[in-house]
Amino acid sequence: MAETARSAFDAMDSMYRYQRYFYDATRKYYLLGRDRLIEQMAITPGDDIAEIGCGTGRNLILLAQKYPHARFYGLDASAEMLRTARENSTGLTNISFEHALADEFDHRSTFGLDKPLDAVFFSYSISMIPPWRESIHRALDNLKPGGTMYIVDFYDQKDLPAWFRTLLQTWLRKFHVQFWSELIPFLFDLDRRSVGVLEINAVARRYAFIASFKKNLPIK
Ligand SMILES: C[S@@+](CC[C@H](N)C(=O)[O-])C[C@H]1O[C@@H](n2cnc3c(N)ncnc32)[C@H](O)[C@@H]1O
Repeated sequence: MAETARSAFDAMDSMYRYQRYFYDATRKYYLLGRDRLIEQMAITPGDDIAEIGCGTGRNLILLAQKYPHARFYGLDASAEMLRTARENSTGLTNISFEHALADEFDHRSTFGLDKPLDAVFFSYSISMIPPWRESIHRALDNLKPGGTMYIVDFYDQKDLPAWFRTLLQTWLRKFHVQFWSELIPFLFDLDRRSVGVLEINAVARRYAFIASFKKNLPIK
């Protein structure tokens, strides 16, 4: 394994080794927009859906219960988080978890699929991934034409009081979380270059955002 991959795995494990026990209970109060994203995802029977940076599997477990005839795949850099994900999903047969990096995964070798994903999403993970551009390209490369990539994450909090914004952003940096200011322009640029069609919605006065990016069909 390359040294950079090992250090990305180790960094996430040291952050989540103990946090995984109280992660879901604490995060439900401030990872806003996750349930709204789950509501808006259009999933049909037989679909293959992957979450990149799935953590404890909270989102995928809700989806797997809601859509028993679709299949769900989670990948995460932290083997510790995946231990919790596997424990929490016991009994669900339409969900599986793999230890992998966002910028290196492949639907064939990582999930054993012979066709690309119908949808892929990042929920509060893109803000923790320094190679976020490569990870978005990876997600799009592994998505079928006409499929959708979703991202929910912290936004710029520009419609919230300045003191709140400063406090939140200082606190998030302690957890290696940050809003990449070039992320939204990067998505708009993909739209402009006709890679797909972007829609962005702010959540709770720009506390968070939900992006959906529908990959274009090839031009005939
Ligand atoms: C804040 S948690 C979000 C977990 C889950 N998506 C949720 O909504 O509750 C971010 C997750 O991203 C994972 N992560 C961070 N960098 C990653 C990378 N480069 N590749 C894959 N997963 C990564 C972390 O291990 C962690 O489990």
